[in-house]
Amino acid sequence: MRKIISGFSKLSKKEKINWLIENYFHNQSETLKTITQYWNSDTALQQLHDDFIENTISNFYMPFGIAPNFVINNKDYVIPMVVEESSVVAAASLVAKFWSTRGGFKTKVIGTTKIGHVHFMYAGDGSVLQDYFDENKTELLLATASITKNMEKRGGGILEIQLVDKTDALSNYYQLEVTFETKDSMGANFINSCLEAIAKTFEKQDIEIVMSILSNYVPECLVSAEVSCKVEELGGQNPQKFAEKFRQAVQIASVEPYRAVTHNKGIMNGIDAVVLATGNDFRAVEAGAHAYASRSGQYKSLSHCEIKDGIFRFWIEVPLALGTVGGLTALHPMAKLSLEMLQKPSAKTLMQIMAAAGLAQNFAALRALTTKGIQEGHMKMHLQNILNQFHLNDQEKQLVTAYFDNKTVTHSAVVEKIKALRK
Ligand code: MEV
Repeated sequence: MRKIISGFSKLSKKEKINWLIENYFHNQSETLKTITQYWNSDTALQQLHDDFIENTISNFYMPFGIAPNFVINNKDYVIPMVVEESSVVAAASLVAKFWSTRGGFKTKVIGTTKIGHVHFMYAGDGSVLQDYFDENKTELLLATASITKNMEKRGGGILEIQLVDKTDALSNYYQLEVTFETKDSMGANFINSCLEAIAKTFEKQDIEIVMSILSNYVPECLVSAEVSCKVEELGGQNPQKFAEKFRQAVQIASVEPYRAVTHNKGIMNGIDAVVLATGNDFRAVEAGAHAYASRSGQYKSLSHCEIKDGIFRFWIEVPLALGTVGGLTALHPMAKLSLEMLQKPSAKTLMQIMAAAGLAQNFAALRALTTKGIQEGHMKMHLQNILNQFHLNDQEKQLVTAYFDNKTVTHSAVVEKIKALRK
């Protein structure tokens, strides 16, 4: 029997849970317990979370960690990170401390503009369309006046609007391409509202609007972060060899897409964790970053490395469309707390903090990969997850953790140790 239901969103939370459990679970009381044990006892706080989306039945916890010792443009930061992967916060903290004694991270915002399009079809004469656009350009901008008023007060708004002929790519396809400055807000709602108002004014019998939407490709909303030091200051037994292997690893990610994707995934480990902690849109950031990595036609590393005149330089350039006002940033108490922890940054400052977090994560991964491999550190961090899986008590945990202090952690070795302990 099909389980299609009408009017589901109108049901109460309890009714939704009952329907779900009756239709999709076997152990009904256990399931109910799992769902409800994550409800917050503060009903107002729970209501706030319920209202973020539709059909909320519970909350999904993620660890909220902090990475101290980040020095960015000579300012100290402790960076909030929401992430489930065990080694991410540890790696960020370690690398932040490492670079804090070598000049820290130097960051720079390259641009902040975002783009949106009215995509439309027009089968007539292109020059007639151009005339119609030129004649109505002021009208189009006026159509957004009530929406842009507040943004303009904050120094943002629409910067440019132009007609783009895309008929070479798809017959009859044109765009109105609109460039925006959205200051401290991510600006998705603002951009989309402006575009829809423009589209309404522009539409006429021979212009068929297909859609009006911002682009998450934001190559002009770009930030860079860099670390550098003398090669010998990198430390270790053979800093020259380390620097060269490190550079090779970055070069490989520049020419080999299979490696580049994993390399960039490591960067996004750091960036996404801060994006989530600050209530920003990680899907938008992910989409934009990977599109930027492919801008040459081949997917490449977002980071770069150079050794010149005895100086090791490692840097990243990444597009980040972020907000520090509006959206979840003001609504989610933990996002608010994150922004306060970061000393209430502007969107521009947050871009720089995130780029530093991404670069730190990339440095940690490449340093481990080109020296002892990542599994040693990774499995050490993962050990606690394995211990929790087997429901060890505190004393057992201490014993097993101490045992693996100077041994390689593998899943089977841990299981064996637990078995031996419990015999
Ligand atoms: C794991 O989450 C991330 C790494 O694979 C990144 C990399 O390989 O550079 C370690």
